[in-house]
Amino acid sequence: MSHPIVFPSAESQSSVSHIRVDQDRLWNALQELGELGAYRDEETGLHGVRRLALTDQDMEGRRLVMGWMQEAGLSLRVDQIGNVYARRAGAQDVLPPVMIGSHIDSVGTAGKFDGCLGVLGGLEVIRTLNDHGVITRRPIEVAIFTEEEGVRFGTDMLGSAVAAGRLGLREALETTDRDGVSVGAELEHHGFAGEVQVPITAPYAYLECHIEQGPILAADNTRIGVVRGVQAITWKELQLTGRAAHAGATPHSLRRNAGLAAALVTVRLNEMVESGEYGQMLATVGRQDTYPNLINIVPSNVLMTVDLRNPDAAAMERAEADLNTYLGDVERLTGVSITSRTTAKTPPVAFPVEMQDLVAKSATNLGFSYAEITSGAGHDAGEIAALCPAGMIFVPGLYDGISHNPREYSTPEACADGINVLLQAAVELAN
Ligand code: GLV
Ligand code: MN
Ligand code: MN
Repeated sequence: MSHPIVFPSAESQSSVSHIRVDQDRLWNALQELGELGAYRDEETGLHGVRRLALTDQDMEGRRLVMGWMQEAGLSLRVDQIGNVYARRAGAQDVLPPVMIGSHIDSVGTAGKFDGCLGVLGGLEVIRTLNDHGVITRRPIEVAIFTEEEGVRFGTDMLGSAVAAGRLGLREALETTDRDGVSVGAELEHHGFAGEVQVPITAPYAYLECHIEQGPILAADNTRIGVVRGVQAITWKELQLTGRAAHAGATPHSLRRNAGLAAALVTVRLNEMVESGEYGQMLATVGRQDTYPNLINIVPSNVLMTVDLRNPDAAAMERAEADLNTYLGDVERLTGVSITSRTTAKTPPVAFPVEMQDLVAKSATNLGFSYAEITSGAGHDAGEIAALCPAGMIFVPGLYDGISHNPREYSTPEACADGINVLLQAAVELAN
């Protein structure tokens, strides 16, 4: 069922400044989706969310949310990389839509908010417009992007990058997970290899609401983050190859210890961060697989990942070049050979000032304090920004804004604040 096309009346074109989203309905949706992929977390003892992209758990999540979208009268389409677009008709339905989006795939140790707030917030905007019989001039589309997290297939923002044309469809479909299963095979298997051609036709504008995932807003009770942009991200996968040997009988001089080489790289990255020579760089070795991983054997192989973040593109380039030079030093020092592969790389993205101003104005009109923030995390908005003006709204998270951890938490009020800003900004764009 789609909404009838109605020529806009004076009333339908008026603002929605008096309308508010349903906080309880939004919260209940977040809780219900957060039950899918639930697991018991070893570190925290809490229930976390593990809904890796294109797994059965992710499909359960999609079915739930897509069912809600259909009940809200939206018409659904799927593109060639499995991104879902749920459309509410506009009075002038041929106009490019205002798109609201995010993701519902999660990392392996997630909370209930990362990405889900943006998608379910988009749905709540639609439900609120339906409740009040508001017809916008432009259509509004709510998007669910595929594999935003990148933890399963190794490239973050995969779906939105393909939708925006930065990443080729074939390359994306051929990307495999640790077990050799490809994105393309999973899309076919789950019936999500859709028809909508990528790159997609540019929307009129794009908005995304997301939990901050950092400590800034909560530190001084600021209610809304107006996002300036997203910092640069580089992901690398290093293969370190030495030689397995007896721990007791192999003299130091005869060892080619891949574990030692990995440790040197990790310490060097930390020194680079602490030196301040690379601006506000952050570096993380999040994954390290050691072989044979036994107590009395010098490790022969390590696979390690490097995640670099930097708001400054030039500093990022310098850091990558200096890391490469150091890898050569480690090879000479340890006799371990190292190959390095870049698995993801996105430049810093600045959102247009007009979109930042729109978010700030919407917050101010609602009486909310706001702060300008550069996002530490990557987001689909950073990709869709290549197609159309994009903007983001952050809401505070508790406990230092911890995220990618089951402790991730934003209050019902804070979530509703963000989605009320989203509602006002989206309708202004759509009219
Ligand atoms: C996505 O959450 C990222 O890694 O920034
Ligand atoms: Mn996210
Ligand atoms: Mn995330």
